[in-house]
Amino acid sequence: MAVTTVADPQPTPRGRETTTLPVAIVGFGWMGRAHAQAYARVRHHYPHLSPVPELAVIADEVVDRAAEAAAQFDVPTTVSDWRRVVEDPTIGAVSVTAPNFLHREIGCAVAAAGKHLWIEKPVGLSAADARAVAAAAADAGVQTAVGFNYRNAPAVAAAREAIAAGEIGEITHARFRLFSDYAAHPDGALSWRFQAERGGNGVLGDLASHGADLVWYLLGDIDSLVADTAVFIAERPRPTGATSGHQLAGGGERGPVENDDYVSAQMRMASGARCVLEASRVSVGAQNSYGFEIHGTAGVVRWDFRRMGELEIGRSRGGGDVQDLAVSTRFVGPGDGDYAAFQPGAATAMGYDDLKVIEAARFCASIGEASGSSGATIVDAVRAAEVVDAMTRSVRDGAWTTPVAVEE
Ligand SMILES: NC(=O)c1ccc[n+]([C@@H]2O[C@H](COP(=O)([O-])OP(=O)(O)OC[C@H]3O[C@@H](n4cnc5c(N)ncnc54)[C@H](O)[C@@H]3O)[C@@H](O)[C@H]2O)c1
Repeated sequence: MAVTTVADPQPTPRGRETTTLPVAIVGFGWMGRAHAQAYARVRHHYPHLSPVPELAVIADEVVDRAAEAAAQFDVPTTVSDWRRVVEDPTIGAVSVTAPNFLHREIGCAVAAAGKHLWIEKPVGLSAADARAVAAAAADAGVQTAVGFNYRNAPAVAAAREAIAAGEIGEITHARFRLFSDYAAHPDGALSWRFQAERGGNGVLGDLASHGADLVWYLLGDIDSLVADTAVFIAERPRPTGATSGHQLAGGGERGPVENDDYVSAQMRMASGARCVLEASRVSVGAQNSYGFEIHGTAGVVRWDFRRMGELEIGRSRGGGDVQDLAVSTRFVGPGDGDYAAFQPGAATAMGYDDLKVIEAARFCASIGEASGSSGATIVDAVRAAEVVDAMTRSVRDGAWTTPVAVEE
């Protein structure tokens, strides 16, 4: 008869010394939820991470929304006034995922209270706002992370490496696109996103800021640019209740859209390369159509967010093969960016939420190591905001301009 040996129950071995970091989230809409999910999962993917975040407070002015989220995420405390988070001495880090017009005030207060700051892009309504938050973080010596999540995709990291290694030669020209239909419906509620005082410059801060970050991450500094913008849906219905995400509000009284639906910018890079960035929130038929195509003298790299794990790459082997060059699809795998934290072999698809897990890991690691983060920080937010401000200036003046730190 077979004998089954059952091992005595053993205590779970403790991993390396870890500390816990009580965190709070301010604004529990789409992004607040994405940050909460990332905090909950991050240790599963990064077992040696320290400190380990523990979501302790959710702040949202919509009281029921905060309470529901707290029940779902097992969070002990909810508050409606974000100032209570800032005053709470037990909170070590804060995610600011509230609408853009609150970023400056909350971001500065969080940093001034000595709490580390993970803040969503675009960090305020203008470069001046982003600079104010950056100055507060520098003064307080706190770590920062900013939600430029697309650069966290392993295929984007692989593209960056290929470009830096000269695998596609000298960059000649590139095209970045961020097309979405989230505002394509004329009955999309006139939420904070469409108001200048609360949403800022519309698609420029919302999507073009992601593009500006990717342009810098992959191609370096922009020397000058010229831009054009448009509003295609001039009025939208006012919402009758609290909004979250991109909901419809058909039937309501209509009010004016105060910021742009569309932007295109032509850029001259400091390297001499030429680049086009185009972003739209009203692209019918385009859902999260984000990506880039970068051409060099010896090859090309192409990436599409919707096929996140695939990098199209063509590399010349010399001998004049740059005409009719074959381009192949490489599935990312361990060794590309942070892919190994998710899967042991190539070509298992990752998703948007995984990019937020990577962002959370880099944020926590920067706190634990008291070093600069390997991810996007407030410095990157200032740089992207200066590009976006330059687009606005270019449209106003009808001229080429340089994205520099200009106080308006
Ligand atoms: N990184 C990305 O890919 C990405 C994607 C979407 C949004 N964002 C950014 O995230 C931020 C939030 O966007 P969202 O789509 O989650 O918006 P949302 O409208 O879904 O959520 C905003 C939340 O903030 C709450 N809020 C409003 N005023 C508040 C206050 N005074 N105190 C506390 N809470 C308050 C609202 O009740 C709501 O729950 C924006 O800055 C946006 O640009 C980033």
